[in-house]
Amino acid sequence: MALRLRDDFLWGAATSGHQVEGGNWNSDWWEFEHAAGAPVSGPSGDACDSYHRFEEDIQLVRDLGLNAYRFGVEWPRVEPEDGEFSIAAIDHYRRVVATCRERGIEPLVTFSHHTLPRWAAHRGGWLWPELPQRFGRYADRLSRAFGDELRWVMTINQPDLVANIGYRYGQEPAGWEALKSTDGEAVAQRCTPLLLAGHRLAREAIRASMPGASVGVGLASVEWTGFEGSEEELEQLPAVREWDGPFYNETGGDDYVGVQVYTRRLAVPLDGSPALSPGLEGYPEPPGTRLTSAGWPFHPESLAPAVRRTARKTGLPILITENGIGTEDDAERIEFLTRALGSLGEAVRDGIDVRGYFHWSLLDNFEWGQGYGVRFGIAEVDRRTFARTLKPSAHVLGGYARRNEVP
Ligand code: BGC
Repeated sequence: MALRLRDDFLWGAATSGHQVEGGNWNSDWWEFEHAAGAPVSGPSGDACDSYHRFEEDIQLVRDLGLNAYRFGVEWPRVEPEDGEFSIAAIDHYRRVVATCRERGIEPLVTFSHHTLPRWAAHRGGWLWPELPQRFGRYADRLSRAFGDELRWVMTINQPDLVANIGYRYGQEPAGWEALKSTDGEAVAQRCTPLLLAGHRLAREAIRASMPGASVGVGLASVEWTGFEGSEEELEQLPAVREWDGPFYNETGGDDYVGVQVYTRRLAVPLDGSPALSPGLEGYPEPPGTRLTSAGWPFHPESLAPAVRRTARKTGLPILITENGIGTEDDAERIEFLTRALGSLGEAVRDGIDVRGYFHWSLLDNFEWGQGYGVRFGIAEVDRRTFARTLKPSAHVLGGYARRNEVP
């Protein structure tokens, strides 16, 4: 039986600046993509040229019957040098917001999605003690410019992932640099408090100039599977506690929390071997586990447990700010989406306050270290002409949105 959702439910698709805009050459990622030996399969180049084609992207969202669009502002464009702000770049992002409004689309704007301006990364990125203050200053500039135009803002995309994958394992530029002289554990521990401070300062700036906006972070929420003890015991496993514990604690002063869920992690080995403490990425999956083309276990039903855990830990209203699958096969995307929305329905039936669902992603875009080889989009992008072609999954998502229901 289909379940009808609240009338103001946000149905959206998500992107981030660097992954779709193109030509983001002043960012640390651009430099990383061209550095010898960096763990990146190739440059982002023109990406999807969304910096120029944002109207077309917003129109796609509208034509599908969605009512919301999540996109990112690129700090490297807005503040190309320390303390030097670009009026033209800020005006550009105001036009993106205005276009959303004209077309009846609710914008959710991310202030930092994995990239930093080069000048900030060269001083250590999220390991530089002054970065939180700089991030707060940038957030203040943006907030004054957007004023009362925004109702939904995300300060930092997945600070938990930035700390634990980006810096601990050197998958992001400043982390990669730092690991040349320090170990991952120390790096993750140093950047976590700075990410939290950056979030707090940005939140203050947003509240001061945009009193009508809801502010939060999106966390790389995971379903920890296979643990038979109590919920409290699960939360005490070092991997579970270290991954996102400090970040969940920080959401206390936020207005909402974004759940970004793609897959599950194993809290105990499924092959019966003795369970010590799992690594941050959980125990290995048993042989034969169905994997997506991003190499992650295919597990759309992770959505409800991830939402339940987040609700339990934060008590805040929830937006699913990312959920999706990297696959070449759109029929597999439809299967994933349908089952994930069914799982969302379970969480809603439990009475959890879920306000929206944003599919990752609107476009086949630059998938960070994996380049253009992994496709998350509900629309394909011709890499030569940038023409967008909606995939059947886009219409399936649009259908649920128009009916405002989940299976
Ligand atoms: C990130 C996106 C990324 C997606 C798929 C999320 O963790 O926010 O930028 O493309 O996962 O890997």
